[in-house]
Amino acid sequence: MSINDLLSDIQDDLARVEENILGHLNTEIPLLNEVAQYILASGGKRLRPAILVLASRLFNFNGEAVYQAAGAIEYLHTATLLHDDVVDDADLRRARPAARKIWGNQASVLVGDYLLATAFRTLTLQGNLPVLDTISWTTSLMAKGEILQLIRQYDSATEAEYLDIIIHKTACLFAAAAKIGAVFGGARPEEQQALYDYGNEIGIAFQIIDDALDYAEEREKIGKPLGMDLKERKVTLPLSRLLKVAKPSERAVLDAVLQKESIDDEDVLTVVGMMRDHEVLPYTLGEARKFVEKGKSKLAMLPELPERQTLTELADFVVDREL
Ligand code: IPE
Ligand code: IPE
Ligand code: MG
Ligand code: MG
Ligand code: MG
Repeated sequence: MSINDLLSDIQDDLARVEENILGHLNTEIPLLNEVAQYILASGGKRLRPAILVLASRLFNFNGEAVYQAAGAIEYLHTATLLHDDVVDDADLRRARPAARKIWGNQASVLVGDYLLATAFRTLTLQGNLPVLDTISWTTSLMAKGEILQLIRQYDSATEAEYLDIIIHKTACLFAAAAKIGAVFGGARPEEQQALYDYGNEIGIAFQIIDDALDYAEEREKIGKPLGMDLKERKVTLPLSRLLKVAKPSERAVLDAVLQKESIDDEDVLTVVGMMRDHEVLPYTLGEARKFVEKGKSKLAMLPELPERQTLTELADFVVDREL
C-alpha cells in the first residue's frame, strides 16, 4: 500500500498540517525562504506529522494545536536532514541535489537552525509544557545520537552501540510524535507511554530499513546514492551482519576496504555482492520486522478506533517501504 492510500482517512488533517509547514516561509530574507521551501516541498513522506495526528485522533482531537505541533515536528525533522547532509557530505536527498550542493554547507546549517528555532517558537506560543519538555528532550537526544555516531570507531562497533545510536538519532522523534499526539488528545499517562513505545520501536525499524536501503540494488525510488554509509565507514546493521558471517577470505577483503583512504564505487559493489551472497538484506528486514511487531503490540491497550488500525498499517509500511 502506498503511504498516501494508507493515510487517506486523515488527508484533510494532513492538508492543514501542510498549511502550517509551508505557511511560515515568507520571511524578509529570500535565501532563507528559498532553501526552506526547497527542502520542505521536495516530497518528504510526512510520517512523523501523520503519527502525531493519528495518535491525537485516538483520543480527544483538538484541532489547530495538533496541526501546529505536527508542523513543528516536521520542521525539526527537516532541520536534522539539512544538518545531516552536511555531516554526511551527502550529494542527494529525495532524488534531488541536497540543499548543500546548491546553497552550500553554511546556508544549510543556518537554515536548519532557523527551522529548529521556529519549531520551538511555535510550541512555546502554545504553552503546553509537557509537549515542550518532550520535544526539547528529544532534540537533545537526537544531537547526542549524531555525536555518538561521529565518535564511534569501526573496530569498537557493537550491535548494542548501533541500537543506542539509532534510538537517539531517529527513533526518539517517532516516539515523541506519537506521545505528543496522545498528550494533545488528553490521553492517560500509560496511554502516552504506550504510544511513545510504539513510536520508539517503529522508529528503530525505520532506521534499520534506511540502513538496509543504503545497500539495496534496486534504487529507483530511494533517491540517495548506493553505499553512502559504507563510504563513511558507518557500521550499520547490514555491515555488522556481513562482518559477522563473512568467510575469512571475505573478511580480509572487507577489512582492507574499510581501511582504505577512500572507499570507491567498486568497493561498494564488492560489499553489495557479498551481502547478496550472505542474504544480509533479508536478515536485516527480519530484524526490523521484530521491532515493528513489538511496536504494534503496544497499541493493544489503546482505543479500538480506525486510527489504531492505521497506526498498525503504518508500522508495517516502515518495513515494506521502498523509499
Ligand atoms: C530520513 O527520514 C532520515 C532518517 C531518519 C533515516 P524520512 O525517510 O522520514 O525522510 P523524508 O522526510 O520522508 O524524506
Ligand atoms: C538519519 O541517518 C539521521 C537523521 C536523523 C537525520 P542517515 O544519515 O542514515 O539519514 P539519511 O540516509 O541521510 O536520510
Ligand atoms: Mg547521517
Ligand atoms: Mg545521512
Ligand atoms: Mg541513511
